[in-house]
Amino acid sequence: MLVLGIETSCDETAAAVVDEAGTIRSSVVSSQVDVHARYGGVVPELASRAHLALLPPVVGDALHGAGLGADPGRAPVDVVAATVGPGLVGALLVGSSLAKGLAMAWDVPFVGVNHLEGHCFAALLDHPELRWPVVVVLVSGGHTMLLAMDGPGRYRLLGQTLDDAAGEAFDKVARFLGLGYPGGPAIERTAKAGDPTAFAFPRALLDQGFDLSFSGLKTAVVRAVRARPDASDADVAASFQQAVVDVLVAKGLRAAEAVGASGICLAGGVAANGALRAAFADACAAKGLALAVPSRAMCTDNAAMVAAAGAWQLTHLGPSPLDQPAEPGAGLPLERVLAGA
Ligand code: KG4
Ligand code: ZN
Repeated sequence: MLVLGIETSCDETAAAVVDEAGTIRSSVVSSQVDVHARYGGVVPELASRAHLALLPPVVGDALHGAGLGADPGRAPVDVVAATVGPGLVGALLVGSSLAKGLAMAWDVPFVGVNHLEGHCFAALLDHPELRWPVVVVLVSGGHTMLLAMDGPGRYRLLGQTLDDAAGEAFDKVARFLGLGYPGGPAIERTAKAGDPTAFAFPRALLDQGFDLSFSGLKTAVVRAVRARPDASDADVAASFQQAVVDVLVAKGLRAAEAVGASGICLAGGVAANGALRAAFADACAAKGLALAVPSRAMCTDNAAMVAAAGAWQLTHLGPSPLDQPAEPGAGLPLERVLAGA
């Protein structure tokens, strides 16, 4: 089975071909960073228009890269999967509409994929050896969640951010420091020359439960910089990054212990962060936990993860209806646990 995956939930236009064994035959990501950088963040209407222009050639490149033709009369793949939520509604509509059109034209099933579930599958693609349950630390620009994953499609929400997502905090602090957009990579680069102990930023809810909070940290950064305008950006970035890393590692370990997990999976754009990856590697090694970290390209938004989730979904739950709506505010489909799927 060959799956064409399409991802357009935010500002990456992506298409990929993945087979049923989870092998990535091609993965193309066209970033819209240049479109949005001058505004300091994603402008939804511009994102939709850019997806509209970029998606057809990106899909063509993904098919071509997998050695498949784009003959309109012959289906090059067995299923077309696209992200249907959560995300920006206009952006989601561009990708899911094209996916439905292609599925109709090729007479193959369409599968609507949950973007967050896609992120969870990214870690699985590289680590088929994982034993369930695992804890997924899902840290992206829009979401920050701790999940117990009992198998593909089976999630229990343990905790989530009460305010800003981890990636959102990176983006806001970078913007405040004038480091540019997207903020995560800019903070990581700047932090390399800094002292992570220069500022004692708060670690909210460190010793309590599984929920997280990052908005107080962001405010603390703003206050600290206003109080010490001569402080180096590198020290501020390094101290901020360390505070986020400390909280995520502590919570991830606590969650793993609470659910008896064999290991921890990192997922989402913030999981591309080198300091976070290194801290989890040390912590998991010390606790005898497995650690599944996708490659950096598979942490940030991509369509291979959507295709992989789509393959599983088609096999276990069947195709989605062609009138499947875009669901901008969707959470993870946690109810599948109850359905025993
Ligand atoms: O998963 P993703 O690509 O899109 C969403 O689903 O939101 O995550 C994007 C987020 C952004 O907030 C970005 O600043 C952050 O991931 N990010 C990083 C790094 N690379 C991307 N945060 C910290 N360090 C990085 N290297
Ligand atoms: Zn994402």
